[in-house]
Amino acid sequence: MIYPTTVAAAEAMFTAAEADGVIITLVSGYRSFATQAQIHDRFVADLGLPAAEAVSAPPGHSEHQTGWAMDIGDGSGACSFTTCFADQPAATWAAANAHRFGFIVRYPAGSEQITGYSYEPWHLRFVGVEAAADIAARRITLEDFLEAPR
Ligand code: DAL
Ligand code: ZN
Repeated sequence: MIYPTTVAAAEAMFTAAEADGVIITLVSGYRSFATQAQIHDRFVADLGLPAAEAVSAPPGHSEHQTGWAMDIGDGSGACSFTTCFADQPAATWAAANAHRFGFIVRYPAGSEQITGYSYEPWHLRFVGVEAAADIAARRITLEDFLEAPR
């Protein structure tokens, strides 16, 4: 399940976005090992292993299995799970505000070598308000933060 902490933070964030006229939807939250395996197998079948591993974590390694991560969508449904999601209101709002609710955009553009994954403007990870604010202000990854916390 998604942790109650993550759920409460997400609900507060969705409500704040809505007050700004932006509808954010929850597209994918908690995933079991079996669900992640199914998703990963599909990517491997479609793209081959190396390309699949740039976009999908192997079962046992996805943040979706931790209860601290979620994928968001835009109220319009546009560009779900594609790079153009970055230009949708939900993504631009989240990029600017998610840290206030303890979330970070976990796989930023240009940090593929550090995170190991392609840019995912839809994948948010709860790390708490303090860490999220620092990560956002310094424009760093969670990996960088864990190596050099403030
Ligand atoms: N798409 C992210 C990396 C996952 O599969 O958890
Ligand atoms: Zn995700």
